[in-house]
Amino acid sequence: MDMDPGIDDALALLLALRSPEIQVLGITTVAGNAPVEMTSANARRVLEYLGVTDIPVAMGAAKPLKHTLVNALDYHGPDGLGQCSLPPPGLPLHPAKAWDFLAQLISQTPSEITLVATGPLTNVALAFQYHPELPKLLAGLVLMGGAYSLTPYGKGNQTPFAEFNIWQDPEAARIVFSSEVDIVAIGLDISMNPATCLTSQHLEQIKASHTPVAWLAAKLVEYAIKRHGRCELYDPLALATLLDASLFDFISAPVEVISGNGWDRGITRILPSDSCQLSANSSQLMHIAASIDGPRFLKLFLSRILGTLSNTSCHSEPFAPCHSEGLAEALSRSSERSEETAKGQRPKNLTQGKLREESRPFPIAQGDKKTTSKLEEQNG
Ligand code: BDR
Ligand code: CA
Repeated sequence: MDMDPGIDDALALLLALRSPEIQVLGITTVAGNAPVEMTSANARRVLEYLGVTDIPVAMGAAKPLKHTLVNALDYHGPDGLGQCSLPPPGLPLHPAKAWDFLAQLISQTPSEITLVATGPLTNVALAFQYHPELPKLLAGLVLMGGAYSLTPYGKGNQTPFAEFNIWQDPEAARIVFSSEVDIVAIGLDISMNPATCLTSQHLEQIKASHTPVAWLAAKLVEYAIKRHGRCELYDPLALATLLDASLFDFISAPVEVISGNGWDRGITRILPSDSCQLSANSSQLMHIAASIDGPRFLKLFLSRILGTLSNTSCHSEPFAPCHSEGLAEALSRSSERSEETAKGQRPKNLTQGKLREESRPFPIAQGDKKTTSKLEEQNG
């Protein structure tokens, strides 16, 4: 996981640690919501609080490739984690820089690791530049970033037109979007939809569950709700694509990112699919979430955070693996559907592209679940 914790990054980490399908192999941290020293400390504060000591954290870029960092501490609180009162970390950082750590890890198990990026894409772009073989060695990249005008919510949160992560480092986004990795993108189109946000009722539910995970989740969510009226789950939504892709519909299309420092910085514009070859600025086909079953996503999120998996549709017992739809299945379903609907109903700029020939499921490493068992111990 490459992240900039950040309230919702921390919630995504909690979700990952509570999900038996996911083995978190490492964390790389980037400047975004907060300076990189703080995001690096925050990742370790969360791990340490949960007693997880075997997930390495490697620090990455202190600033975007070409721009000055503009943090989001006004949203996430002065410590980046909603003043949740966790102590400073004792866990050491991994000695490697984020991009070299990613290269070491990914090249050990080619085609098995999915990178989940929930901050600006600076580390990922640098990893791809320093280690050009990496995009092909990844099983896939799931990212939270962009606003694609696919729904009324797909506009902007940093500017009226651009999403924070992409706006922060549009040059990095361009490098990543034009690489050969399979990309699944969660944008504001679905993450700003109120049906995917936590409300004060959800907060009460979380507070009523007296586990260490729920306590931390409640602190994070409460901070957001008190100040912003709701808690957006931008980054957990990215993680959720790996848990149950049937929650989403995707469209596949090339995307243009506007770089530079003009009014349009960070805009992510979906292009007609045949523009892949036409423009040096456009990306390969990306799979972009176009709709979501919000209530079912919230149910999944809460069930994992609260440890009540038996209440969800796809689980019969705690920590049973989820047999819901995989990403590849969901992507081809969306592709078929969009071919049908393309006949007349879709706006022209959403012309659909076929999935790339080499598109494949994102396999999940089947290692032992040391992390989960530690949490289970803690949570009784
Ligand atoms: C993104 O920006 C950050 O503030 C959040 O952590 C999320 O990754 C949403 O635009
Ligand atoms: Ca983030």
